Amino acid sequence: MFKGRVGGISDDGLGMLKVGGRKFYVPFAYPGDVVQVWKAKRRFGRRIALDFEVIDESPLRHGARCPHFGTCGGCLWQGLKYKEQLRLKAKIFERITGVKAEIKSSPKIWGFRNVSNFIVITSGIGLKGYGNPLGVVNLRECPVFSKRTQGYLRALRGFLKETGLRPWNPREKSGEIHYLQIREGKFTGEVMVTLIAHVKPSNEILKAFNDHFSQADSIYWSLKVDGRDDPRGEAGLIAGKPYIRERVKDVTYFLHPNSFFQTNSYALPLLLKAVEGSTDGERVLDLYSGVGTFGVWLAKRGFKVEGVELNPFAVGMANRNAELNGVDSIFRVGKAEETPIRDYDTVIVDPPRKGLKEAAELLVKSGVEKVIYVSCNPKAFKLDYERHLKGVYHIDGAILIDMFPHTPHVEAVVELVKKE
Ligand SMILES: C[S@@+](CC[C@H](N)C(=O)[O-])C[C@H]1O[C@@H](n2cnc3c(N)ncnc32)[C@H](O)[C@@H]1O
Repeated sequence: MFKGRVGGISDDGLGMLKVGGRKFYVPFAYPGDVVQVWKAKRRFGRRIALDFEVIDESPLRHGARCPHFGTCGGCLWQGLKYKEQLRLKAKIFERITGVKAEIKSSPKIWGFRNVSNFIVITSGIGLKGYGNPLGVVNLRECPVFSKRTQGYLRALRGFLKETGLRPWNPREKSGEIHYLQIREGKFTGEVMVTLIAHVKPSNEILKAFNDHFSQADSIYWSLKVDGRDDPRGEAGLIAGKPYIRERVKDVTYFLHPNSFFQTNSYALPLLLKAVEGSTDGERVLDLYSGVGTFGVWLAKRGFKVEGVELNPFAVGMANRNAELNGVDSIFRVGKAEETPIRDYDTVIVDPPRKGLKEAAELLVKSGVEKVIYVSCNPKAFKLDYERHLKGVYHIDGAILIDMFPHTPHVEAVVELVKKE
């Protein structure tokens, strides 16, 4: 048993406590909290507090809005005042990268998420518990997602009761229903419901699902053929429209169960404007273009855009998004690390969490004057910059956008300019 005051915050958002030369990492605790730790466990070389109590609260705290705060894995920082969240995000980014950056707050910090994946397992229906991959928080509400959360979960429970379909059992890898994914177009009001299941449905089951979610604009059954714990399957439309739409200022995007879309619809214009503000010249390459989020926005503003993306389905969506918005940008399937880069004024890179890897070398050899590096992983950015990009590019500025309120995560837009 140990007691002490949290002195700092780790890169992944845990309170750090030093007691007699030993360091503890405490989830849901913040600098200034006095914490009593009853039990800790070693994980990846760190002592993580499992059982603890905050006995004197930090002035950085305020009451969390969500009744599940402290157990749910979704919002580690909901107990922190929002302005402190922003300050700490900028501080952690600077500590990791050495880059001082202005941070822009999310225009909405409640109800901003346009997607939620509710896990459906034998021990409950809801979101994963913090630090417990097999645990679930039986959810009543989710204030960062939607006021309608309770209604969605009630409809799901009604459907399970009526059909007798069983939640997934992660230990035995048995059961039928594994996830319920809900997407909401926050600016269009459209709703897409996708059930991720391990069985093909009969007509009666499809009808029951349809009846329970009759308010939705688009209803999918997604057949999962593996035992992995993710909300992915082969999605088949069972009722309504194949896509719902989200409107971001003057650009409309299609959403589909199989494609990634930025999760905070309200902060997305800030991200897009940050990228636009850094884009030079006329010809733009959108590398790792996904569904064309950046490319279509920029094309709408007159830039000549090409996009390259690994996932053929996302490329199809990007070209559809270009058509929907009446722009003639072109997206094609390709690997960033095999894409010849020439004749572009600006290259935007938004790689997955692991960073650019080999693609960094191509950029270095390309001679492109301006690179905009969009990153949700400052450590990967730092490695790419130090190992490869630094020889040719200097950092001309960076803006952080809070796409993920109540979590330690942040999206960075870093402007890289070719050295003279
Ligand atoms: C962080 S997402 C960015 C998506 C997009 N910029 C957006 O905002 O919607 C990264 C994208 O990179 C794609 N990707 C992963 N590895 C890739 C590779 N080697 N070459 C090209 N694209 C890749 C993924 O499929 C994913 O769509």
